[in-house]
Amino acid sequence: MPDAAKVLYSKEDIRRRVAELGRQITEDYAGTSPVLISLLKGSSVFLSDLFREIRLPVRIDFMAISPYGEASEGARVVRIVKDLEQDIGGEDVIIVEDIVDTGLTLSYLMSTLRSRRPHSIEICTLLDRSVVRIAPLEVRYKGFDCPESFVVGYGLDIDERWRNLPGVLTIEDPEALAANPDLLIPFLHGGWDAEDTAGAGSVAGPEGAR
Ligand code: PRP
Repeated sequence: MPDAAKVLYSKEDIRRRVAELGRQITEDYAGTSPVLISLLKGSSVFLSDLFREIRLPVRIDFMAISPYGEASEGARVVRIVKDLEQDIGGEDVIIVEDIVDTGLTLSYLMSTLRSRRPHSIEICTLLDRSVVRIAPLEVRYKGFDCPESFVVGYGLDIDERWRNLPGVLTIEDPEALAANPDLLIPFLHGGWDAEDTAGAGSVAGPEGAR
């Protein structure tokens, strides 16, 4: 029987990469106080780890959007349901995302935020699924490339669950997960790194890691 889920990026993989990104941003923005903008909800986990790895007096802010739908092919219109609390005019802005897929969400958001005249605006995403990109985007900072398969954990959800998984899994057998929605529970307890020992049943544990 195939494993229902496999470790794509373990919590240690992520910890290491987030620290590297933090160091890179610290160097690139030396002497400034950038504003990190997290698009709720998925990116909140990444943001909370990333901004503690940046050795600068950063500020954070949050936005929430809901999709209106496709305006035309290659364009998406979104409605801002929670706007920033800070004026970003003249500021150095870094948008923090958990994943960029088609790029339609960020493409719309970038044009909205650019109209507020920040000094600079860049994208930092944990996962870059560029194979499905529709809208061209320049991603300045990325944690990892992401395969086309369905991914979950470290902020990414399935029906609002599993955002608190400490690493990222690929879902290999969506039907098995639909039949048993608790299948990923072992991964809340361990099964990510060599020292973890959680019995994961048909879910691939450490031996299923990359
Ligand atoms: C995800 C992700 C991005 C968007 C990327 O959010 O956080 O905002 O999708 O997709 P795109 O590149 O195809 O536009 P989602 O809608 O899943 O909401 P969530 O963050 O609340 O989980």
